[in-house]
Amino acid sequence: MTALSYSQVMGANERVMVGYIGLGNRGDQVHEGFLEYGDARTAAICDLKTSYMDLAEKKAKAKGHDTPKRYADYRKLIEDKTLDAVVIATPDHWHALQMIEACNAGKDVYCEKPLSLTVVEGRKMVEAAERNKRVVQVGIQRRSAKFLQEAAEYARSGALGKITLAQGWHLTNEWPVGLGAAPEGPPPNEAEWDAWLGPAPKVPYNRNRMYYNFRWFYNYSGGQMTNFGVHYVDMLRWCLGKDSPKAVTVMGGKFAIDDNREIPDTLQAMWDYDGVMMVFTQINANSAPGNTQKTEMMIRGTKGTMYLNLNGWEVVPEAITELPLPQRNPVDRVTERAYNPSRKPVIEGRKLTGQVTNHPHARNFLDCMKTRAKCNCDILTGHLSTSATLIANAAFKTKSYLEWDAKAEKFTNNAAANQMLSYKYRAPYKLP
Ligand SMILES: NC(=O)c1ccc[n+]([C@@H]2O[C@H](COP(=O)([O-])OP(=O)(O)OC[C@H]3O[C@@H](n4cnc5c(N)ncnc54)[C@H](O)[C@@H]3O)[C@@H](O)[C@H]2O)c1
Repeated sequence: MTALSYSQVMGANERVMVGYIGLGNRGDQVHEGFLEYGDARTAAICDLKTSYMDLAEKKAKAKGHDTPKRYADYRKLIEDKTLDAVVIATPDHWHALQMIEACNAGKDVYCEKPLSLTVVEGRKMVEAAERNKRVVQVGIQRRSAKFLQEAAEYARSGALGKITLAQGWHLTNEWPVGLGAAPEGPPPNEAEWDAWLGPAPKVPYNRNRMYYNFRWFYNYSGGQMTNFGVHYVDMLRWCLGKDSPKAVTVMGGKFAIDDNREIPDTLQAMWDYDGVMMVFTQINANSAPGNTQKTEMMIRGTKGTMYLNLNGWEVVPEAITELPLPQRNPVDRVTERAYNPSRKPVIEGRKLTGQVTNHPHARNFLDCMKTRAKCNCDILTGHLSTSATLIANAAFKTKSYLEWDAKAEKFTNNAAANQMLSYKYRAPYKLP
């Protein structure tokens, strides 16, 4: 049987044969998430680093798995007819090619966030999943955390009143050294550098561009805007029940950190989500908390404020008054003084603790493979959240206020920004 027909008749207790492409920092964590469950078998592994594959093999065997097959070329892994699913945890510039090829080969796919490097890639990934009827989970794992599912439900219930602002912060102090300024020079291994670059432009080797640090360079990543931003935009728009923004603008720069990164160390993005403002604040040269509860996200409503973290969420009621704003004047201070004391909360506070972990997201993918249901972070959800962050990068790079036609997936007021929705792959790579 081919993987395609096999996955459609899979029983609840049947084993899922999984192939992993990319077993670095994140691939290792996702692998551990799958290893929690006996029905997910590590059947094949592929990475450019032998030591990462050695570790993955060791972990799988410690759980009683057979020795996984090793592939040097990811295309061979995708062609392997014994595999039901492919997990992709390579750098962002690889996601589209590998995910689309896996879908076309009849595999279900777990693909790390951000879904894509460009909006056009993301749309093609949505089409590939739909055309091939594939189950796809995007690696935005907050979606499988029960306490955050309850947060989103609570926020969407209207309990916070009219929500006016939703904000996320990525705060860390990397000053002064940052990544360090690694010199350009010949790669330790030309073939490995070429294989790692894949469809990205051929540029001189720099240690900082490659393993893990690629997220500070635009050819391979959207920077922290897409790296952390996609987690926050996704959670916030889930709470708001909104699909796509109408407009976006961004300011920022590399103001403090003296290394060879390309992305800004300080940035503020603002989206118009049709009557709600969304904000992502990235400050990488100062780590002071962004709000009183020191959380990574906050949603402000007329009746209360919701604070969200990886380990819980909290609602702090606003104090409201029905009195009109007093007109301050020197002969009547009584009306003015009566105003604030008349305020009263109109909702109750609430607090819920939990923990975002990797395994429930893996479990949800395995379950959906068997039932053919949509995953908690299905392909379209991942695409819409990723797109919002990608269009913010276009606003940053063009220094503009961009109006977004979400249906056409095009800007309506900036031709240069529209050029940033795709890029030309380096030969011989082609976006299918
Ligand atoms: N969901 C999350 O919370 C989360 C957290 C961290 C990273 N990520 C995402 O995971 C992805 C990987 O990030 P990382 O931190 O693990 O980076 P990393 O550099 O540590 O790992 C990427 C791995 O991909 C491998 N690779 C690159 N090209 C390959 C190819 N052509 N074939 C096979 N293997 C190849 C590399 O050898 C490397 O080991 C990124 O998209 C990142 O955004 C998600």
